Amino acid sequence: MVCLGNICRSPLAHGILESKLPTGHFFVDSAGTANYHIGSKPDHRSIHIAQVNGLDINSQRARQFSVSDFDNFDIIYAMDQSNYQNILDLAQTEEDKRKVKLILNENPSITDKNVPDPYYGGDSGFEYVFNILNETCDIVASKLLY
Ligand code: 4NP
Repeated sequence: MVCLGNICRSPLAHGILESKLPTGHFFVDSAGTANYHIGSKPDHRSIHIAQVNGLDINSQRARQFSVSDFDNFDIIYAMDQSNYQNILDLAQTEEDKRKVKLILNENPSITDKNVPDPYYGGDSGFEYVFNILNETCDIVASKLLY
């Protein structure tokens, strides 16, 4: 799960998807394309909306996406078109490129395919992001488990 800072959207996507998969069978992680917040905990507003919904994402720490992630992961979900393009720019092979997907393309009921960046907004932005990621991760998890 990849966003820009790895403190708002992708930590939520990481925690949500992980909670929907059986433990030990899948490795879910998150990263940011930028280096601004390396080592930071998720934004307190992401921690809060996760907690309200029964998820503990406190132990996550931000890291920057790296080229080695193409070898370590089978699917790389970008939160928005800008992250998607930045990840694709780092791809070394056609196989790397095929791993990169826009997460909201998994959800046919959402027309705007960008998970909005809630960083500069209020709590309602985080609630919206949680809800669309939760709905979309249900679809992703059911595909992975099929
Ligand atoms: P994220 O949100 O990409 O969902 O983690 C952001 C976090 C920090 C910044 C931008 C977006 N920032 O500019 O520091």
